[in-house]
Amino acid sequence: SVERTLSIIKPDAVAKNVTGEIVGRFEKAGLKVVAMKMLHLSREQAEGFYAEHKERPFFGDLVAFMTSGPVIVQVLEGEGAVLKNRDLMGATNPKEAEAGTIRADFAETIDENAVHGSDSTESAAREVSYFFSDEEICPRTR
Ligand code: CMP
Repeated sequence: SVERTLSIIKPDAVAKNVTGEIVGRFEKAGLKVVAMKMLHLSREQAEGFYAEHKERPFFGDLVAFMTSGPVIVQVLEGEGAVLKNRDLMGATNPKEAEAGTIRADFAETIDENAVHGSDSTESAAREVSYFFSDEEICPRTR
């Protein structure tokens, strides 16, 4: 079924100037960008987005990294978009990511791993609404 998923191009990938290459991979795989913006997250925004991880030992580093520079947040739409995006990204740890995936090609460490993608349709709904109002999402009719 047609789903929506939230994608974040993280500060490391923005700094490497590979945002276009990453969006190109989504497009080549048939995912459509239905919302997109660049943001420099505040600490409050990053902490809220990653609230489910707040007891994890890496939480402080994660928030520091995600606020270290601008990110691009996008809503991607398509058939099975959640899983398709996760396949394109590869494993969370780039060292374990399959060849040809975004993380294998553009990231070196688990802390700075180029992209985030929703892990289920339930988290996608929450994550999309965390960053976008309904008016900011542009349904694609052609
Ligand atoms: P992301 O999909 O954005 O969700 C949380 C992030 O925490 C994850 O990608 C990683 O970049 C980062 N992280 C750092 N250490 C770990 C870990 N041990 N397990 C999972 N995520 C981690």
